[in-house]
Amino acid sequence: MGTWFPAIYDTAMKPLEEGEFKRIRKQLVTGAAGRVLEIGYGTGVNFPFYRSAVSVDAIEPNPSMAARAEKKLQDARVPIRLSAASAEKLPFPDDTFDTVVATLVFCTIPDPEKALREIQRVSRQGAKLLFFEHVRLRQPVLRKLQDWLNPMWSRVCDGCQLNRDTLGLIRKVEITVDRVDEYYGKLFLAIEGKNGKMTADRVSPEERQ
Ligand SMILES: C[S@@+](CC[C@H](N)C(=O)[O-])C[C@H]1O[C@@H](n2cnc3c(N)ncnc32)[C@H](O)[C@@H]1O
Repeated sequence: MGTWFPAIYDTAMKPLEEGEFKRIRKQLVTGAAGRVLEIGYGTGVNFPFYRSAVSVDAIEPNPSMAARAEKKLQDARVPIRLSAASAEKLPFPDDTFDTVVATLVFCTIPDPEKALREIQRVSRQGAKLLFFEHVRLRQPVLRKLQDWLNPMWSRVCDGCQLNRDTLGLIRKVEITVDRVDEYYGKLFLAIEGKNGKMTADRVSPEERQ
């Protein structure tokens, strides 16, 4: 976990944030309602966009990112509690959250499938799951280019995997995908889904076998 990447993150992202990202984040995060969990809050870019949340628990494992987010808490309109934690091991009981938000984070999480299963565990059945991620491209030449660039990219960008199929992973676990909006030639996706997990008391005897 580097310290220089957090130092340049907001500056490096500025052209994108001032382009479409701000509008995309605002649209996605405004839809987060009830008790909300944010995964990998980074420098806290999403904090000002929460409107309908009762409260937000936000987790981040990198202390250099977290230090930069403190300032953005002042722009928040809802209570936000910060915790040092990783998505693969969330410090919350089962069925705690009504909405989970993850933006530009599933590219970097070392074990994304484990993280998705943790999100399913700590959110209630039917909870809203909101993602904004860059993903593996379908176009064969561009996909090869992503694969070729990835080793250097991940070294420079603190472990970020340029070619991760996050939508494929989301579809693989019990998440119902309701809506996918494509941006920047399908490189970035805003994904809205629902936690489709079956809790023990709702699983039929046949399914339990
Ligand atoms: C590219 S930044 C995105 C930050 C922020 N979510 C945003 O939208 O600007 C990726 C973030 O994922 C965090 N991260 C890396 N591994 C993680 C993990 N295992 N669990 C949760 N967050 C993680 C990084 O520390 C970093 O803050």
